Amino acid sequence: MNNLLKIENLNAGYGGIHVLFDVNLDCTRGEAVAIVGPNGSGKTTLLNSIFRLADIFSGSVILDGTEMQKEKSHKVTGRGVGYLRQEGNVFPGLTVEENLKMGAFNLPKGEVGERMEEVLSLVKPVVPFLRRTAGTLSGGEREMVALAVSLMCRPKLLLLDEPTSGLSPIASAQIAELIKNLKDKTRLSMLIIEQNLKILFDVVDKCYLLVSGRIIFSGGPGELQCDKELMRTYLGLA
Ligand SMILES: Nc1ncnc2c1ncn2[C@@H]1O[C@H](COP(=O)(O)OP(=O)(O)OP(=O)(O)O)[C@@H](O)[C@H]1O
Ligand SMILES: [Mg+2]
Repeated sequence: MNNLLKIENLNAGYGGIHVLFDVNLDCTRGEAVAIVGPNGSGKTTLLNSIFRLADIFSGSVILDGTEMQKEKSHKVTGRGVGYLRQEGNVFPGLTVEENLKMGAFNLPKGEVGERMEEVLSLVKPVVPFLRRTAGTLSGGEREMVALAVSLMCRPKLLLLDEPTSGLSPIASAQIAELIKNLKDKTRLSMLIIEQNLKILFDVVDKCYLLVSGRIIFSGGPGELQCDKELMRTYLGLA
């Protein structure tokens, strides 16, 4: 089966708040998929549903044959999902090295050192910061650390929620380069939310446009960019 992730008729939200309506989404192995849409449309909630941080009311999220909606939330990382969250994605009081180790909590102790070597070879800019307290890093430095932490669990699927948010153009370009490099070098599948569409369209194979909790478009980045009406109405581009 080539489908790594299959989301079918997902209805999800928080307690009594219904955010996502009948969402369907596929991600095949090695594919990078974008989720775009206006603020508040439910992009983060979609990633939270996969990671079991949102409530799934009905429908299914199937990762590599496992029905995630039946899993306990603490088992999700062990099933191969890495998540770079939009906010609060490092422990500020811990060193970078300690943060990386926390990210590998699902791995046997004997494998953590080896995984750290692998991750540092993929996210090299983190190496000089290993002994720094994460809370003392700049925004761009911290985002790179968060990316490295999200890789520590040896994910099959990486969820990236606005990895360049608040960063300068140079720092954003550096993160984009790392993500591209990851995609080219590993068979990692990714779901990416990113406001910087230039960066996004350059990396992804497929896009889903989410508006008020419903998918209203899916297709290649070229196809989406050609749809001037959608681009103008929902993504603010002429
Ligand atoms: N923990 C929560 N409890 C209740 N409602 C929430 C919670 N988190 C988000 N929401 C609501 O769910 C809706 C979708 O929010 P979500 O964060 O998924 O949007 P988003 O597309 O990621 O937005 P942004 O682009 O601003 O990050 C919003 O109306 C938001 O207020
Ligand atoms: Mg969000």
